[in-house]
Amino acid sequence: MSKTVKKFVCEKCGQEHLQWSGRCTACGTWNSLVEESKVASPKGRQTSWLGERAPISKLGEIDSSSMGERWQTGVAEFDRVIGGGVLPGSFGLLGGTPGVGKSTLILQLMARIASLGKEVLYISGEESAGQIKERANRLAVDQSQIQVLCESNLEEILGHLERERPQFVVVDSIQTLFSVEFPASPGSVTQVRESAALLMRFAKAKGAAVMLIGHVTKDGTIAGPKTLEHMVDYVLYLEGVGEPGRLLRSVKNRFGNLSEIGLFKMTPKGLAELANPNQLFLEQFHWGKPGMAIFANFEGSRTLFMEVQVLVGDTEQRQPARMAVGLERNRLQVMVAVMEKHLGLDLSGNDVYLNLAGGFRVGETAIDMAVVAALLSSHLNKPLPERSVFAGELALTGEFRVVPGLEERASEAERCGFTKFYLPQRALARLEKKGVRLEMVGIDTLDQLMRQVAETL
Ligand code: TYD
Ligand code: MG
Repeated sequence: MSKTVKKFVCEKCGQEHLQWSGRCTACGTWNSLVEESKVASPKGRQTSWLGERAPISKLGEIDSSSMGERWQTGVAEFDRVIGGGVLPGSFGLLGGTPGVGKSTLILQLMARIASLGKEVLYISGEESAGQIKERANRLAVDQSQIQVLCESNLEEILGHLERERPQFVVVDSIQTLFSVEFPASPGSVTQVRESAALLMRFAKAKGAAVMLIGHVTKDGTIAGPKTLEHMVDYVLYLEGVGEPGRLLRSVKNRFGNLSEIGLFKMTPKGLAELANPNQLFLEQFHWGKPGMAIFANFEGSRTLFMEVQVLVGDTEQRQPARMAVGLERNRLQVMVAVMEKHLGLDLSGNDVYLNLAGGFRVGETAIDMAVVAALLSSHLNKPLPERSVFAGELALTGEFRVVPGLEERASEAERCGFTKFYLPQRALARLEKKGVRLEMVGIDTLDQLMRQVAETL
């Protein structure tokens, strides 16, 4: 006999509730609870490895080399982000908006892993074998060793895995899978979580590497995000930047460096690595226009130049707009407040819009100086000097603070033909000693930056 248990799950955070309510008590989202009745089966699944008992061992006696060597795909931009290659037994997630190129990237990577002599299996719940074949033809990858399974029924998939025991499994996408044991529809939190849980057990029990592909919803989250992010060993996101650029970012990695990023370019023949991405971005900058400043972003081991655009406009509204795309709005509000206080500026009659060109998103506080410079440039209607670049964090006291990686930022700026680097004064002497040849302008306070912008012709 099986017993039906009624429960409600938050579609946003995955929190379970015994009763329906208008608002999720865990994440505070309104109208996000959906009923999901779960059939609790006393028998459980019939797959044999699910019943296997894991032995208890002493930590000191465990041979960590049993995890095996990482499989290097040879696609350097990917290998670096994932921490040196795909680790056998790892369970991860590759997310991105529909159409960004997840299926393309993974097919290219699978061909590489197959060429290492690994058994790879591509499970698609979205496309037919014919469509996958079309894509493989277009990418001109070696198709001989890639096995394909077009299936979305979880029980069927588990059966295949049990029989075939592939070493590298990709599920495209996790949102298409469904288990007949749950009445919820594919893509719902219950289905996503249950499918992922069983695939994880397969990965851990059999030492296979399993990678889930997940679609990101409009607000930037993968369905059932919290539950999935907790379960997996790594989360990679593929994002579009400076079309046709693509940025691969790791937001969680149990076995690797977190801040590494990889850069690609979408071409008619799939994703190509971008060894020199700044070349692509530099061509797109709008030099000589008021309200734009270039920020030298430094993440992982990469310096990337990004165009910060700010528009300061008059408004009659009592509540002027403060909008930001690519940067947290709160940060912009804080910067405006600090500028009002320390420069005696009155922006209460002005809307302020910020946009990070090309679809970049930045969390690094080093962007502050570029934001302030772009804002002042728009406000005073004075363009900043061409080929100049900024990096520095704004403190609430109105001073600029030193940020990490200034030397790396300076040397990449030099290499890319920038002529001026605005940075906190305190770092200047150290950089000069290191032999930075670029003209450096030390800026300690908002006042000094304001004077620089005002004097620019
Ligand atoms: P796809 O990998 O299907 O995206 P996702 O799996 O993330 O939804 O790629 C979709 C887009 O990429 C599609 O609009 C066509 C384009 N594309 C190319 O430009 N070149 C290629 O070689 C391929 C395969 C796709
Ligand atoms: Mg796809």
